[in-house]
Amino acid sequence: MTMSMNSSNNYKVNTVTQSGVDTSNWGVKQNMETSAASENTIFGLNRHASTQPRSKVVMNAAAGDDIGFSVSGEFAGSTKDDHFDDIVSASPKVNKTARRMGSKARTRMILAALDKDHEGSWGDVDRNYVIGGNWKSNGDMDFVNSFPKEVLAKAEFDEKKVEVVVAPTDLHLNAVQKELKDTHVHVSAQDVSQYGRGAYTGNITADQLTDMKIGWTLTGHSERRTLFGESDADVALKTKIAVENGLNVMLCIGEQLEERESGKTGEVNARQLQAVVDELTEGQWGNVVIAYEPVWAIGTGKVATPQQAQDTHAEIRAWLADAVSPEVAGATRILYGGSVNGANCADLIGNKDIDGFLVGGASLKPEFADIIAAAHNDQKK
Ligand code: PGA
Repeated sequence: MTMSMNSSNNYKVNTVTQSGVDTSNWGVKQNMETSAASENTIFGLNRHASTQPRSKVVMNAAAGDDIGFSVSGEFAGSTKDDHFDDIVSASPKVNKTARRMGSKARTRMILAALDKDHEGSWGDVDRNYVIGGNWKSNGDMDFVNSFPKEVLAKAEFDEKKVEVVVAPTDLHLNAVQKELKDTHVHVSAQDVSQYGRGAYTGNITADQLTDMKIGWTLTGHSERRTLFGESDADVALKTKIAVENGLNVMLCIGEQLEERESGKTGEVNARQLQAVVDELTEGQWGNVVIAYEPVWAIGTGKVATPQQAQDTHAEIRAWLADAVSPEVAGATRILYGGSVNGANCADLIGNKDIDGFLVGGASLKPEFADIIAAAHNDQKK
């Protein structure tokens, strides 16, 4: 077992080499093939940006050190996350950092680095899909007692490829969660307080959500921004407190119609994201999914064209590479939202920078299962 640091790139990529590892199931096959000429290769990354300089490698070993990592027959056929779990468990220090990130985020980070290094295209990274359903202020107990059972529990999808998350009102979170307990569908809040516990009437805190075993929240939905006056700074604080408490966040951004028409889409997205960049450490982006939702497309039936969505997503990803890091740009899922339905979802999801959807109206209807199926069936990943 040898370990060496690849210093010829800016990615802080550690290379752990071990002959005999079958990497054919790793998911980004072409990258793995081009990256490992004679030996099979496993990568780890510096994910401890908050406390260490970016150039340092977290993996607690120097070139040539034996980190005690062993490969079993079973290992060769396991999932990508399992591969990395075995690597990180070899080093207590790495273990600590990596555990905080969650296994999916770690895998995406690894694949992101591989991708930029070897293929030069962030959009080819194996990010798993997210399909979010935002129920807004809709639903009652009749709906809560029927829709999860009749539609969500019956939706067929590979939970390693597609994460499905629905956001009922806070009042219904618990009941929906109970209905979904034997399924792979998760629940999300629609909003979270930017404050901790205390005298904040009407607000629900991030730690109260995690206490209720809720793993997700939206932040910055355009209705919160426009109808309830949330500023970019408010949204950034909500996002920060949510990830600090271990929640996954669907951070919503997007421009108004007149902003698109006057060519300001990129500027608006950058401004909304910059407020969040200012608050989060690099590692905390592992808990964030961006939902790009042009305001003119929300609830209007006027969906962005696949090209408009793809172009904007690619622009957001490139912006993230500069503003945060190429790894975060490659690893962050960017969802499209705004009048997505069963008929238009397949054309949208086929684009390489579209990693899923945040669905409003159609998430309350049986066609939500068709949208999940479109992600499940999409072949680009
Ligand atoms: P819509 O809403 O799908 O009804 O347009 C999307 C959203 O608000 O997240």
